Amino acid sequence: MEVGFLGLGIMGKAMAVNLLRSGFRVTVWNRTLPKCEELVEHGASIGESPAAVVRKSKYTIAMLADPRAALSVVFEKDGVLEQICEGKDYIDMSTVDVDTSSKINEEFSSHRNRVSLLKMCDSRFLLSLSDEWPVTGRDRTR
Ligand SMILES: NC(=O)c1ccc[n+]([C@@H]2O[C@H](COP(=O)([O-])OP(=O)(O)OC[C@H]3O[C@@H](n4cnc5c(N)ncnc54)[C@H](OP(=O)(O)O)[C@@H]3O)[C@@H](O)[C@H]2O)c1
Repeated sequence: MEVGFLGLGIMGKAMAVNLLRSGFRVTVWNRTLPKCEELVEHGASIGESPAAVVRKSKYTIAMLADPRAALSVVFEKDGVLEQICEGKDYIDMSTVDVDTSSKINEEFSSHRNRVSLLKMCDSRFLLSLSDEWPVTGRDRTR
């Protein structure tokens, strides 16, 4: 299964590595490119933009710093909104306020055939990875 990952900070990098170790094909994007190259060493592919990651992925996970970052990867040029469509799910795990998540959700919902943020998220995907909560920054090899 193709999984996309946006944001390779402290949390995002560790989570993406855990997905790779669990056997998923992972395409990553980060505002600062060298952080993506570190993930290539673990088997990830690099997407040239958030839109490119979503185009390739069934599920895209975002782990970004703040509301501003969460909004920018969705709404700016080459953002998530350009490629999200029915059959693709977007899981934003960044810490954001209600207004931010509502704005993203409403925009997705307003597009015909576009998925709704969270409502359409298939949590079985997350739960099926492991008997423990898999998508965390914890090093599962310890
Ligand atoms: N859900 C959870 O269980 C959980 C747990 C801990 C933390 N969090 C939350 O997860 C988020 C990430 O935490 P972290 O510790 O990984 O933070 P971090 O190490 O500071 O990483 C932040 C990430 O956001 C990116 N970013 C910042 N501003 C951006 C912008 N304007 N456009 C695009 N990307 C931008 C950074 O890209 P660059 O590398 O280019 O700077 C980096 O990839 C925070 O919101 C935090 O509160 C959630």
